[in-house]
Amino acid sequence: MKKIEIKKGIYWVGGIDWNLRNFHGYLTQRGSTYNSYLIVDDKITLIDNVKASFAEEQIARISQIIDPAKIDYVIQNHIEMDHSGSLPKIMELCPNAKVIASVKGVENLPKHYKNNWDFMAVKAGDILDIGSRKLHFVPTPMVHWPDNMLTYCPDEKILFSNDSFGQHIASSERFDDEFPLNVIMTEAAKYYANIVLPYGKQVQKELKVAKTLEIDTICPSHGLILRKYIPQLIEKYIKWSANEVENKALIIYDTMWKSTEKIAHSIQEVFEIKGVHTRLFNLQYTHISDIMTEILTAKYICVGSPTLNNNILPTTAAFLTYLKGLAPKNRIGLAFGSYGWGGQSIDIIENHLKECKFEMLDQIKIQYIPDEKKLNEERKKLIEQI
Ligand code: FEO
Repeated sequence: MKKIEIKKGIYWVGGIDWNLRNFHGYLTQRGSTYNSYLIVDDKITLIDNVKASFAEEQIARISQIIDPAKIDYVIQNHIEMDHSGSLPKIMELCPNAKVIASVKGVENLPKHYKNNWDFMAVKAGDILDIGSRKLHFVPTPMVHWPDNMLTYCPDEKILFSNDSFGQHIASSERFDDEFPLNVIMTEAAKYYANIVLPYGKQVQKELKVAKTLEIDTICPSHGLILRKYIPQLIEKYIKWSANEVENKALIIYDTMWKSTEKIAHSIQEVFEIKGVHTRLFNLQYTHISDIMTEILTAKYICVGSPTLNNNILPTTAAFLTYLKGLAPKNRIGLAFGSYGWGGQSIDIIENHLKECKFEMLDQIKIQYIPDEKKLNEERKKLIEQI
């Protein structure tokens, strides 16, 4: 195990989850890392922990640098278990260390771990002197939980950003300039779309604070450390948090006898004629978390399902539930589908999309196998609306 020094006296001591493929419903095809950072100063400081099953790896990495018993401060920027799972094991090794977290963090950590460690709550503007360096704390509630905060070290120009700017990538490389940029940006987009998207307003507040700080390194809690491509990722965060979309349409559907699929292709033709970039996804073949990455920048969200048992297909229901939770804004929706007799599916989809507060195009509802005449009529109506 090689020591990984980020800057003099500051080390990466995290865990690499090579085989993670599902993160509560989000497909993580490239695995992930749980990043933890150790600052060796007058006061030995550990920033964030790892998933419980990676505690041994984290402790082995720390032990290469110092005796874990010497840790004075454990800063827990976020209490979700991928970042705090190893905390009980760490605290067994340094029982006298102070556990530092936001006010919400200190309120909720004991509820998670039923432990009464020596807690210290910090709030905006609080500064911790660890010797030759100072650490500043910036609460960032709801990016991603109410307890989230950032830790900033002005002496090193490092921002320890926890979930913000994360990417689910397992790699032996630790820095953004050692890894393909397109993969980092794709995974950062997927991460934002599937985790951070509901919290755009809070991200904007965080970006406002970040703008006032001198930063040359961002140490997130998942994926690669950023030291070269910070402006590129910040620019994306500005757009994503503002729900800025591109002239792009997604046609997302499931189909029983390919009638709804025919409508999907017909809708795709219209967008193509109108010069709108399109992507077509059959929910049987593309995972909803990958579709969310596309939704991050798509203006039009068209969703289709045939009617099954007076309802929609389960794949479509799962997608709509996921979509509603992630709450993209400023989109235009369209509901479509084929049916035999009841035809309830189209209204059900439309209602879901309206609950997402999307502006709606006229629904397309076609009985039995759609013929060219009917499809043509619907295309003409849709062309008028785009
Ligand atoms: Fe990576 Fe909200 O935990």
